[in-house]
Amino acid sequence: MPKAAITATGHYVPPDVYPNAWFEQRLDTTDAWIRSRTGIAERRFASEGGASDLALPAARRCLEMRGIEAAALDCIIVATMTPDRPIPSTAAILQAKLGAINAWGFDLAGACSGFVYALVTATKLVEGGAARRVLVCGADRMSSVVDPTDRATAVLFGDGAGVVLVEMSEDDEVGVFEHVCHMDGEGATALYVPAGGSLIPADAESVAQRRHFVVQDGATVFRAAVVGMAEVIAELLKRADLTLEDVAWMVPHQANRRIIEAVARRLGLPLERVVINLDRYGNTVAATIPLCLSEWHDDGRLAYGDRIVLAAFGAGFTSGAVYLRWAIGA
Ligand code: UT7
Repeated sequence: MPKAAITATGHYVPPDVYPNAWFEQRLDTTDAWIRSRTGIAERRFASEGGASDLALPAARRCLEMRGIEAAALDCIIVATMTPDRPIPSTAAILQAKLGAINAWGFDLAGACSGFVYALVTATKLVEGGAARRVLVCGADRMSSVVDPTDRATAVLFGDGAGVVLVEMSEDDEVGVFEHVCHMDGEGATALYVPAGGSLIPADAESVAQRRHFVVQDGATVFRAAVVGMAEVIAELLKRADLTLEDVAWMVPHQANRRIIEAVARRLGLPLERVVINLDRYGNTVAATIPLCLSEWHDDGRLAYGDRIVLAAFGAGFTSGAVYLRWAIGA
């Protein structure tokens, strides 16, 4: 069976660093609380631009790594919950900025599972012959939808982007092997933005009531994330006929270090084989997993042939996991 593979990566975070101390001066919170309850020490916030402006430098690095021009792309998928605008898609805006004149594309709204959903979609487009080279972007400017006065959410998120290129693998040993995706819409109001869509369009009242910001029942999402992520990984391993001993790296969505530790504990996976960078970036939503992959690749920590499990859980509730073998660096 022909397989698609990730053949290049890139990431970008804005230059301005906001340590926990920045919030201590503005909100009733402490560095100690944020570190101990979330594992986050700092995050980046963009001072201007939209999700496309975060994705653009990441996409350019990805193309540069692969040594191809943007015109060689035939599809762009942008996973995001903070599109530049409701229309056109951020994919279209990015296509123009990149000069990817031969690419079609679309945005994918999967919140924290957006990148996993987009990677699965791209894999199937490539394997089915509908596209040869798909640029899969996870990009979120969370600072545009988080209430800076709400200590329960303001400290959790950051801005960033991660991008991978998906194309046919010429090598049977590597590529995307298996996936599991789920959704449970009963969790829809545990993590949501109340207004700004077709249900409650923006008006003076919705703005005055601060209904355009993320609302989260943290404890409910926390419990659902631990169970959901552990279950989706266990299902993936079973489907792929893998044991945890086979897995070189687990790359979980980066929302909370305690969620990641609890999932690893449930599975019996040592933390040394779990990729964690949320201490430096916070929760960048659709960007967390590709940001981890790109950073770990750049640091030389991913080797050709490594068995890697990606796992995500987020608003919806959505969840998903992917098993792949690293195709770069042969
Ligand atoms: O990306 C996928 C979706 N998101 C997630 O996966 C996030 C899931 N949830 C979480 O990560 C955690 O639930 C949080 C980090 C959001 C909260 O941690 P927690 O340990 O579940 O705290 P809590 O919500 O149970 O709140 C405990 C206390 C509360 O005070 P009271 O009511 O006990 O007096 C909060 O008001 O901590 C308080 N609190 C804070 N205190 C200091 C909440 N935020 C802060 C803060 N600083 N920033």
